[in-house]
Amino acid sequence: MRPPLGEDQAGKLAPKKTLHLIGPGQVGRAFLRQLQTRQPETLRLVAVSDRSGTVFQREGLVVDEIVTHKHRGGSLSECGGAETIPTELAIRLVSADIVVDATPSKSEDVEAAVLRGRTALQCGASLALCSKNGLAEAAAEWLAPATRKRVLVNAVLGGTGAQLLAELDELQRECQGLALVGNVTTTAIITAIEGGASIEEGIGEARRLGFLEPDATLDLDGSDAATKLLCVWSALFGSTFTKSPGLASVKREDVRDLDPAALRERTSRGATTRLIARGGRSGTELRVAFDEVALGSPLAVPADRVAYGYELPSGLRVHTGLGVGYERTAQALWADVNAKLQETQQ
Ligand SMILES: NC(=O)c1ccc[n+]([C@@H]2O[C@H](COP(=O)([O-])OP(=O)(O)OC[C@H]3O[C@@H](n4cnc5c(N)ncnc54)[C@H](OP(=O)(O)O)[C@@H]3O)[C@@H](O)[C@H]2O)c1
Repeated sequence: MRPPLGEDQAGKLAPKKTLHLIGPGQVGRAFLRQLQTRQPETLRLVAVSDRSGTVFQREGLVVDEIVTHKHRGGSLSECGGAETIPTELAIRLVSADIVVDATPSKSEDVEAAVLRGRTALQCGASLALCSKNGLAEAAAEWLAPATRKRVLVNAVLGGTGAQLLAELDELQRECQGLALVGNVTTTAIITAIEGGASIEEGIGEARRLGFLEPDATLDLDGSDAATKLLCVWSALFGSTFTKSPGLASVKREDVRDLDPAALRERTSRGATTRLIARGGRSGTELRVAFDEVALGSPLAVPADRVAYGYELPSGLRVHTGLGVGYERTAQALWADVNAKLQETQQ
């Protein structure tokens, strides 16, 4: 029988893993609240970085104080002893066992995101992500055999990332194409429009449900779905020797250009619409479009989940995930971190 969490075979307390959180925003704070609730005995939060700086305490930070300070709109640089140094330097100096990156997924910040992830991996850390831009650019590099076991992407892909990594070798060999319904915001908007709402009312509903990205444009213009496509495409078909295709290479449709009448016409025929991100091995035809989907299709998921479809010789394999919205995204992150802790217990 395995000893209880936190104790080794001799009944002594196991050494704690250290964790550095980058980005105490909505998801980051929800993740910290999970830590508070679960109180894992084998994990110690030693550093948190925001845009202004890093707080670091080798013996462990007081989670509650940080959550409250950030919730009130404070900057970490205002906290006693904070270091106002670049985040990648903080990652190197702290050198935690696990780095969680919960920073925004803006395309203009890709280089900084890649640098942060690369630094964490070079320092020997496990890298748990919910931000997507770094992975979209560097998935082939980070998921190469040398570092794959230390890259955790469950939360990036709506809670399906752990399944993807578990099947990565097979999917890299067998998968011919991708059909991903990864953006729940557009699913919520479509559902509202199908029920009679205007596009603006649909967007309002998605906002009410808490689905909109900090920068809503990323959801509305298809960039979020395209970034997730690039993450998966690069993980399966990318190579460390060639550059990632990049966001500009993905053709995208904007939800604000939809024709509500055309969507309702599809429902009158027993079909529905989903924003589907598609791409094949060659990477020449990457696109994100509002496609018609049969109501019984595994891709016709409701707005509380994502569906990642992998075209295999045996048919379409679909991974479904519930990691949507900031609370569930934080849970998907926690699942990754917890799996890492369990691994080191074995
Ligand atoms: N919200 C959701 O429902 C959801 C769902 C799935 C995935 N995601 C992804 O999760 C990530 C975080 O989303 P969020 O809603 O939590 O964003 P958010 O509320 O805007 O928080 C982002 C945090 O990152 C920090 N940050 C930005 N640049 C940084 C840098 N260079 N170094 C250190 N910290 C930095 C910000 O610092 P300041 O506090 O100083 O501004 C802020 O604390 C995004 O990539 C998003 O795409 C979000």
